This record gives sequence, C-alpha cells and structure tokens, in this order.
Amino acid sequence: MEQVTDYLFRYKNYNFPVKHTTTTAEYIDSLQSFETRDSDIFLVTYPKSGTIFTQQIIISICELAGGLNEYPNNYEQMPWLEYPEGRGDYSLRPSPRLFSSHLTPALMPAGLKDKKGKIIYVMRNPKDNIVSYYHFSCVIADIETPKSFEHFLENYLTGKVLGSSWFDHIREWHSVRDQCNILFLTYEDMILDPKTAVTKICTFLGKNLSEAAIEQVVEKSTFKNMKKDVKANYEFLPDTRMKGNFMRKGQIGDWKNIFTAAQSERVDRLLQEKLGNMSLKFIFE
Ligand code: A3P
Repeated sequence: MEQVTDYLFRYKNYNFPVKHTTTTAEYIDSLQSFETRDSDIFLVTYPKSGTIFTQQIIISICELAGGLNEYPNNYEQMPWLEYPEGRGDYSLRPSPRLFSSHLTPALMPAGLKDKKGKIIYVMRNPKDNIVSYYHFSCVIADIETPKSFEHFLENYLTGKVLGSSWFDHIREWHSVRDQCNILFLTYEDMILDPKTAVTKICTFLGKNLSEAAIEQVVEKSTFKNMKKDVKANYEFLPDTRMKGNFMRKGQIGDWKNIFTAAQSERVDRLLQEKLGNMSLKFIFE
C-alpha cells in the first residue's frame, strides 16, 4: 500500500480515497473471499459514468418485480462494495443484494468469475466522463480539488485519480467478459433509448415486467424526475462531503464546452492507442 497524494492511496494497482477510512488494504483483500450469491446484482462503473442513473433503473426494476428490502435511499439500497462505511457485515444482508462498485475485476469477489452473481457494467464516452469527473472533483470532499481543467485532464489521462485509468478499467472488464455473468451498457445508449436499455436490463436480470412497468422505470429514471427524487438524487449526502450536485447536467456532448481541439485530439489518440483493437463504439454527441 502506497500513499500517492494526500487524497489517494494505491493498492494492487488501484487508487483508493484516503478519506474512506473503512476501505483498508485488509478490507480490500477480504473481498476476494466475499461470498457472492446467484441473486446478487453488482453495478460496476468507472466513476462518473452514470452510476446513480443505473442504480435508479436497477432498483426500480427490482422494486416492481417484488421482494426487495427497503432502505432509506439508493445509496443504502445499493451501497459501494469497497466502502463499507459502518454498514456492518454485507454478508448478513438479505437477498436480493444490490451493490455498486468502481473496482477492477482483480479486486472483486472471486465468485463473480464463476458466474455467481450478475454484473451490469456501464461505460460513458471518455470526454464527457472527464468533464463530469472534473466538475465532481471540484465539489466533493473525498478527492483533491483540481487546480484547473488542464491539470485534472493530465491526472485523468495518466490514471492519477480515484479509480485509476479509465482505459484500463474498460479493457480489464472486457477481458473477463467470458468468465463473468456480465451485461455491458453505455450511458449514451441509456439516454438515447431508455426503454430498450431498461428492457435489456430486465431480460439480463430475469425480471419479467409488463410494458407499463417498464415505462414506469423509464419515467422514474429521467434526469428531471430523478433530480426531484430524494431517495435517488444524492442530495442526502452531508454538505461537509458534497458542496454541489451528483445530478449536474446529464447530457451527451458537454465536453465541447470545455475541451480545446488539442485536448480532444489527445483523447482520440489515446483511445485509439489503448482501446483501438477492441470493437467499442462511443457516442460523443
Ligand atoms: P454530468 O456531470 O455530465 O451531468 P455517476 O453517477 O457515475 O457519478 O455519474 C454522474 C453523471 O451521471 C452526471 O453527469 C449526472 O448528471 C449523470 N446522471 C445522473 N442521473 C442521470 C439521469 N437520470 N439521466 C442522465 N444522466 C444522469
């Protein structure tokens, strides 16, 4: 374990936030033997890729399908696996258990690679991801406030941020696709065609919802409705931790408002260099 900055420590090739004091090397190691269940659902994302949006969709589907235990909000209903934060032993939670995570496959419970438990992996185009992450870094106490967009971009592109390298995250999760029970989605597809995305998630989870129920899920997870939803908008986080909003703009193409042409070309080049041999298509506008 190595302290990288005042805000980040590095363990097993991944940057964790120092401020989450319950996330220790020992705890991360213990996740290897964390016993997954067939009914577990793990939402995995690189930070700022649409995690809370997808949480709302998954939770709404499971609520409508029935049998979900009640928790005060989406954060408690679908907590981050790597941040236990005094919630007690996750192994004592009743099924079906829902988890969120930003971890890489190597750090996740070994059972997932035996297809015990389901994973939904959501990715977002890197330019909007960078802009969203930059704005988030300016308002969340857990991580360093960037000196400038340029400075943040440099850290992001060299993997010196919480979550480490976006490129590695995408590559590593795709490399285990045959071992895991995993559904890949993109944030952009979910925004452009939410009904298809919800239907795909239902099929993957084996939840048989009526057309009307699917419409209900879509409605509950629109940016406008989620922003008003006190269980889903993350405004319940204390001001000491978060000075702004998780729900910022929720758009595709906001990167054009901040990126220079040179910065955009640099991301294009890196994307080609690092992920060019994979058949991934990102929607940038
Ligand atoms: P922006 O900062 O571009 O607005 P995460 O949940 O992984 O932290 O991602 C946060 C991003 O998802 C933010 O992007 C946020 O606005 C967006 N988001 C949250 N809920 C959304 C929704 N219902 N529809 C579209 N985007 C949403």
